[in-house]
Amino acid sequence: MTNKYMYFIANWKMYGNLKSLNTLDKVIKFSKSKEIMKGRLIYCPPYTLINSFLKKFNNCLIDVGAQNCHESSDYGPHTGFVNAKMLKDIGANYVIIGHSENREKGETNKIINQKIKNAIKAKLKIIFCIGETLKQKKNGRTKSVLQNQIKFGLDKVSKKTNLFIAYEPVWSIGTGKIPNIKELEETVKFIRSRFKRKMPKILYGGSVNSENVKNFRFIKELDGFLIGGASQNSKKFIDIVKKTYN
Ligand code: PGA
Repeated sequence: MTNKYMYFIANWKMYGNLKSLNTLDKVIKFSKSKEIMKGRLIYCPPYTLINSFLKKFNNCLIDVGAQNCHESSDYGPHTGFVNAKMLKDIGANYVIIGHSENREKGETNKIINQKIKNAIKAKLKIIFCIGETLKQKKNGRTKSVLQNQIKFGLDKVSKKTNLFIAYEPVWSIGTGKIPNIKELEETVKFIRSRFKRKMPKILYGGSVNSENVKNFRFIKELDGFLIGGASQNSKKFIDIVKKTYN
């Protein structure tokens, strides 16, 4: 059991439609219960649902974010994209940046760095994803990969108060595979050691469910979880929160 203030961030990826909003009633009820006194729930639905989620959560403390943003700080001819200030404008408070599913499609550390800087300017809270591939892990390169992603992703970023680092081993995302707890503890400590003082907050992501969270919750340096698949099912999402606390 942990007594810490924890963040539970739901990454819905490219799933969900207006009908899915009905499934959130359970979570809204739960968010008002004593069981979640010490934690924060945040949903990052697809762009198409951000506004509806904001309306749905109007009377509760659940927060809403986006899953990505364009690197440009200004309006411009970028068909199909939205930037950080447009997200802030509709009321989103968070944005996920650097998810491995986007890195795989060519998002570089430099682009990620630009996105982070503009998201800070727009006063969004940032969930900055880092993580090694299986090949990098097997070659013993986990720490150097993470160090590089942090160094270049946060180049000339001095304000780290609204920053979350989500450590998501690529090989763990959506696979049901999770890191060995001792190894994870060591990696999280390593990430923490890259920063001065107690900032930023550190999350773990990759196949989190209500069973394995019982092991993760003992890792002192963790401030919460970024949850993909399990977060689309309200009962599973609530169970993860419950199992974190008791
Ligand atoms: P998963 O996804 O929980 O389905 O592994 C996590 C993520 O991609 O953020």
